Amino acid sequence: MSSQAVLRQFDPSSVVRGPVQAKSSYVPSPRDERHAEHMVRLDMNESPYGPSPKAQAAIAAFVTTHRYPDFDQWALRDAIAEYTSVTPEQIFCGAGADDVLNLLAQATLDAGDNIVISEPTFGVYRMQATLRGADTIDVPLVDDFQLNVDGILAAVDDRTKYVIICTPNNPTGNDLRREDIDRIVQEAPCLVVIDEAYSEFAGVSYADYPDRFQNVVVFRTMSKFAGMAGMRVGYAIVPKAMAPHMENIVQPCHNVSFVSSEAAIASLNDLEYLRGIVASIVASRDELAANLREIPGVEPYPSSTNFLLVKLPVEDAAPVVQELRNRGILVRNFSSPGLGLQRCLRVTIGLPEENERFLRELADILGAQ
Ligand SMILES: Cc1ncc(COP(=O)(O)O)c(C=O)c1O
Repeated sequence: MSSQAVLRQFDPSSVVRGPVQAKSSYVPSPRDERHAEHMVRLDMNESPYGPSPKAQAAIAAFVTTHRYPDFDQWALRDAIAEYTSVTPEQIFCGAGADDVLNLLAQATLDAGDNIVISEPTFGVYRMQATLRGADTIDVPLVDDFQLNVDGILAAVDDRTKYVIICTPNNPTGNDLRREDIDRIVQEAPCLVVIDEAYSEFAGVSYADYPDRFQNVVVFRTMSKFAGMAGMRVGYAIVPKAMAPHMENIVQPCHNVSFVSSEAAIASLNDLEYLRGIVASIVASRDELAANLREIPGVEPYPSSTNFLLVKLPVEDAAPVVQELRNRGILVRNFSSPGLGLQRCLRVTIGLPEENERFLRELADILGAQ
């Protein structure tokens, strides 16, 4: 008999679940030149300053690549618990907040269930629900990008598993009103997820809500304020009654690598440094917003984050974003007409010289039109 295996026909779509076969709705930043050194990367809301010195030292000293991290990640959860003033048992980590959001979707969503979101908001929520075969009900943001509370409460039905509130919101950058959030938390008969990935820039947090309200889960990340996007560390804070369910579904070692865990703990021991970084980014943001307003027709929206949503005096921002790319500067544009942001670009706050370069090139491109 020949030792050569016969190539048997097999169609993977015969086993892959229907929702997974559909094209994903999430549009990431195009990847082509992203990692080229010469590009100015203002498209992913990363910190331009890198990790804190203590995190850098922890990464440089790390040699234990041959050992698994602690299965329960207690040291990391202890450090986060101290930072957020909850118990370590309420913390569930993952490879970024995205990973932990996915855990919640897995824990709660069956086909035919739904979630309620308010677009324009972070695109991953819709994508994760769709992959579970769940529906996404959009109750769009209203004036000043605030929540339509009555609309959200009316949209919740007996198949709604959670309402997701992103505050400060990405990509609009603004804080949502606390009284609106409180009303939803108190009146919606489902879970309420508060994604506060940019909380440290806003100086506002809902981390105490899972202790105050049994239906609130809060998501946070080390990617933004701590300059650790590449290390992939995010976490959820859940109410005590929810913790046993999350224990059942959380990945071994919470999906956080040993070195990422050490770096995150070191960052949380370097909060004074990180608070200084946040203050610099906030000051640069406000300076950039003021300078953008000097360009005729350009209107940055109020931001409590490390990025600005900027309305341009054009019908479609896509060609401007492309021209910035041609000139070595990456920013985001949201072309889907449903979001109503075609005239806008989103720019992450970079180093002062990067912000200046962006400003100069944008003024030049708009002046040339
Ligand atoms: C609102 C929001 N939530 C969550 C995330 C995901 O963060 P992480 O890097 O922790 O997965 C992002 C990243 O851009 C975000 O903007």
